[in-house]
Amino acid sequence: MKKIIFFDAKPYDREFFDAANKKHGYEIKYINNRLLADTAPLAAGYDAVCAFVNDDLSGPVADILFNKGIRVIAMRCAGYNNVDLKSVFGRIHVGRVPAYSPYAVAEHAVALILTLNRKTHKAYNRTRDSNFALGGLLGFDLHGKTAGIIGTGRIGQILAGILKGFGMRVLAFDRFPKTDWADGAGVEYVEEAELYRQSDIISLHCPLTPETEYMINAKSLSQMKDGVMLINTSRGGLIETKDLIDALKTGKIGAAGLDVYEEEDGYFFEDRSDEVLTDDVLARLFTFPNVLVTAHQAFFTKEALGNIAETTLGNLDAFFRGESMANEICYHCGKDTCPRKTTGKCF
Ligand code: NAI
Repeated sequence: MKKIIFFDAKPYDREFFDAANKKHGYEIKYINNRLLADTAPLAAGYDAVCAFVNDDLSGPVADILFNKGIRVIAMRCAGYNNVDLKSVFGRIHVGRVPAYSPYAVAEHAVALILTLNRKTHKAYNRTRDSNFALGGLLGFDLHGKTAGIIGTGRIGQILAGILKGFGMRVLAFDRFPKTDWADGAGVEYVEEAELYRQSDIISLHCPLTPETEYMINAKSLSQMKDGVMLINTSRGGLIETKDLIDALKTGKIGAAGLDVYEEEDGYFFEDRSDEVLTDDVLARLFTFPNVLVTAHQAFFTKEALGNIAETTLGNLDAFFRGESMANEICYHCGKDTCPRKTTGKCF
């Protein structure tokens, strides 16, 4: 029986992986701690590592895992910006779950938009306190407004469909435009600066890459409409948070919904309610009444967790059968469809 060491395990991970594993038959050792240089030696004696978005898969950690005999890592997430691709190349195969429920993430983006706009989180607290006043709860009709979507892959396309349902005009920017989809969906591709100029709501759905890191910065913020709503369910590093704070202070940004944060590693997914918050930038974000932070929960639906468990274990099945994993990270271009990968010649 092959043995998997499963880092950063939460009770909900165990529930869904144990259910899926009935069919796959692995021995899974759940570890509460994150994968770090300190915990990586625990992988000795296991056949595979299962890791998540905030685990450390930098070069030094990959070295330790390789030296402990690990030849496959199953990421139970879509993003892999935490994996040092150069370091694993030629040594450790890395699989991921490219799509588990794009609906979950797109629908969470909509939840952030609606909450920030109609302030239902404030209304919930007010009415429980017998405060039935409406002051401070004023929103706007989404109907007729313009949404700008950056990154029109699986999630961005679903969000576009939902926002079209609200009667919004939807603009999009993508490095690789999908014009056939856009024509059918009634979405207009525009240049990045044009999207910033015209959009009332901007939602980020592109991956974090060297090119997209800090794409939302003082310069791009200055190009946006006054009072724009910014939604980020993609990766924290897309936004230079200090510049966002400056734009919140001036009112340039009217509202921000953040499911991800560039320094989330030490906080998100953990209960730290009895500790002092030492991250001054995150603390400053919490002072704004028009900022809503959720702790990387956009993916968190029953459907998504079931799909994640099944695909993660399926990736390992393929690896242990000696096949190339369909969802192996491509070490050359990052694309699932890279021919060098699908021919099994990635390394
Ligand atoms: P996808 O790969 O289907 O789509 C990404 C899109 O971004 C593609 O159309 C691509 O052409 C575009 N893109 C790439 N580079 C770009 C650039 N420089 N400028 C503009 N567009 C660019 O990915 P999917 O499944 O839609 O996921 C999007 C992101 O959502 C992921 O990269 C991940 O970081 C994040 N995510 C967040 C989750 C959460 O729980 N908050 C869960 C799952 C994904």
